[in-house]
Amino acid sequence: METIKITLKELSKEEYEKAVASAGKIIREGGLVAFPTETVYGLGANGLDSEAVEKIFIAKGRPMDNPLILHVSDKDVENLVSKVPLNAKKLMDEFWPGPLTIILNKKEIVPLKTTGSLETVGIRMPDNKVALDLIKASGVPIAAPSANISGRPSPTTFNRCVEDLDGRVDMILGWDSSKVGIESTIVDLSLEDAEPEILRPGAITLEDIQSVLGRGRYENMGQLKEDEKPRAPGMKYKHYAPKAEVIVLEGTRENIEDYLLNQKSSLKEKSSIKEKSTIKEKNSIKQKSEILVILFEKDSINIKNEGYKVIVYKDIEEGIHEIFEDLRKADDSSIKTIYIEAQNEVGKGLSLMNRIKKAAGFNIIKV
Ligand code: TXA
Ligand code: MG
Repeated sequence: METIKITLKELSKEEYEKAVASAGKIIREGGLVAFPTETVYGLGANGLDSEAVEKIFIAKGRPMDNPLILHVSDKDVENLVSKVPLNAKKLMDEFWPGPLTIILNKKEIVPLKTTGSLETVGIRMPDNKVALDLIKASGVPIAAPSANISGRPSPTTFNRCVEDLDGRVDMILGWDSSKVGIESTIVDLSLEDAEPEILRPGAITLEDIQSVLGRGRYENMGQLKEDEKPRAPGMKYKHYAPKAEVIVLEGTRENIEDYLLNQKSSLKEKSSIKEKSTIKEKNSIKQKSEILVILFEKDSINIKNEGYKVIVYKDIEEGIHEIFEDLRKADDSSIKTIYIEAQNEVGKGLSLMNRIKKAAGFNIIKV
């Protein structure tokens, strides 16, 4: 399939409107358009059209039982759900447009294909000009998962969308990199009177939700067991996995430094033992030393001096903004291992660690 690729930033107002109108037409007529949102880029189709939605699953290689989020351009969602509870109204007023998906009970009009056969549907109003203009232009709610091939880190830039989806979709719209950088918070309000439950943490924190509703909970389930069924079906699949091995290091900075310095000297020993080995073997040893360390707040000269590549995020927000792109960049270079310094799992730190631990396949070393 020939994919039309348009970077909207470079266009005049008229050209922009023309491009968005043609993207809206593609959606309305059952095609696929990847587009920017403030969280991550999305891969959109008409959320009320089963056949169009099916194309999303095929393009992404996504399991059919993993439901999609409907993206809307205003808070009036009465046509999509059987009831809009007061709590939902409160959250919409406070956080929409924004990185919050609300799960409610769906109306007949929302096809089971969109919801992975569930009777509930996730809805959100994104805080991004292009996304909102596209939804309006299409005239329908847009079903959109993240615009990556299933299992890979979500794309936060136009180029990463192109990398994953060129040739698989009708159009890709480019804009700035996604302002937030990880996917929306998902809150389940489908059970009347039940405590609002966060199914996926994001930039809207548990504390944010509690401050509006007076209650709410998040159960940090960690790694799911084989037969365990997550409340958000997507959470059971392998996620955000770069090709490099990701390892979370939990401990003080001092202990992390000690651990990495020891690692390095044992690597060196191994390579000197193999001094007389073939060039091929030597190359593989050299590649082993291509290790990236991701730290927070303060740099580590000690780690750098040992030859590690180091990235320092100045705070959690920057980590959230950069993490997916940095995981992908590591794959573009010859990085084989990525160590990440664990952060406190509170507020947005919880959301960032949720993505990092998944990327690491729960490979965590306490140092
Ligand atoms: O920020 C976002 O939410 C991005 C952008 C594009 O809007 N979208 C996104 O979609 O992250 P996706 O498909 O990659 O993740 C959607 C998650 C999945 O884990 C899915 O299982 C869960 O939402 N989900 C969707 N509908 C649900 C429902 N009715 N009940 C429970 N979980 C649901
Ligand atoms: Mg996704």
